[in-house]
Amino acid sequence: MKLTDDEKRLLDGSEGKLKQKAMEFIVKYAQVLGAEELCQVTKATLFCGAHPYLEVFKSEDIDLIISEMCFCSSEKVILDKMACYCQSCVSPMDPEKWAHLGVSEEEYQKNQEFLRRYLAAGVHLTGTCAPYLVGFIPLMGEHFVTSESSVVLILNSLWGACGNGDGIEAGFCAAVCGRTPLWGNHIMSNRKGTHVFKIESRSASVMDWGLLGYTIGRKLPCHAIPVIDGNFSRPDLHKIKACYAAMAETGGPEMCHIVGITPEAMTLDQACGGKPPRDVMPITEEDLDESLADVSAGGRGEIDFISLGCPHYSIEEIRLVADFLDGKRISSQVELQVWTVYGIKAIADLCGYTEKIRRAGGVLLTSSCPVTHGKIPQGARGMAFDSAKQAHSIAPITSAPVYFGSAEDCLKSALSGKWEGR
Ligand code: F3S
Repeated sequence: MKLTDDEKRLLDGSEGKLKQKAMEFIVKYAQVLGAEELCQVTKATLFCGAHPYLEVFKSEDIDLIISEMCFCSSEKVILDKMACYCQSCVSPMDPEKWAHLGVSEEEYQKNQEFLRRYLAAGVHLTGTCAPYLVGFIPLMGEHFVTSESSVVLILNSLWGACGNGDGIEAGFCAAVCGRTPLWGNHIMSNRKGTHVFKIESRSASVMDWGLLGYTIGRKLPCHAIPVIDGNFSRPDLHKIKACYAAMAETGGPEMCHIVGITPEAMTLDQACGGKPPRDVMPITEEDLDESLADVSAGGRGEIDFISLGCPHYSIEEIRLVADFLDGKRISSQVELQVWTVYGIKAIADLCGYTEKIRRAGGVLLTSSCPVTHGKIPQGARGMAFDSAKQAHSIAPITSAPVYFGSAEDCLKSALSGKWEGR
């Protein structure tokens, strides 16, 4: 492998034990991938907090847990400094309303203890899967690391930044030594579209774009890069984040060009790098209806639990919820959760949106989501989500019917306590 003098110094321990362990991991990772050199990472979103996966390592020593689980080091290293801009992804609880979620004092304190370690090393505790709402928007060509599937898709595709869907440890190691293998999406020639989807279906609403993403994801072969082309209505950021989150859930691509919208796809020819695509598939109304039948329980039913904000809601999405609920009262049997970023909730507080949602009987929460904290109500009679990603993730872990619809469908159900069907 070609290493620069600075990289050799990281590897030989001249920059300390932590960076050495991180660099050893990155070099091994590069060798496994077949990468011949490394590239410089400037942005990272990291999976911080007392997440349940950490419990497989039996220890009371948090530094030892972090060493083993984040840096694959059986020797204890102290996390004291990051090499690039870092912010935290979702944690297992809301930092203020944790008790509302059924989190115990002990779990809360443990989470705080973990978060203090990351904060001390320079990680901003933004707690979000939408870093582009609070945190950073990468520049074109900037190299980032993340382990969040919708973040990798949106940062690569929408801003032309370069990143792979890394594991949690690869993200931490890269953020500490500031390097990651020059491989995959970090190489411009690997970012060309391979499969073109010609949109012939509806594409007006956020829900339509969620279904489009879900459909493309389920039709896409492994290791392919989809290109959205055809007759679609121009999307905004809300529609694109719904689309990419659902696509990441069913298909796992790390890039998706949208012709005329994303910067590496001003034309179809540019998106495909001047080569003919491997396949061209239409997306029809029937395809979207099939996806809806797949992701949402059919018919009508009682509803106990509704969650909005996957990926985390923007301030505009929160305003729409607050305006809808203003002066209304949700059914006493329904728990309505709306999820966003801590900083955006502060704006929602200032604007009075949080209070409107609270007066109606709902709650605005931050820094996590039902999939991440996992504390969904047991024995629920029905659950509803406005995110195809979240509906698809929750369905296997509950026996309750799970419904997917628009935010408005979900809010109407919150008032009546019933899913009325579509
Ligand atoms: Fe974010 Fe949770 Fe959805 S992490 S993308 S709100 S499943």
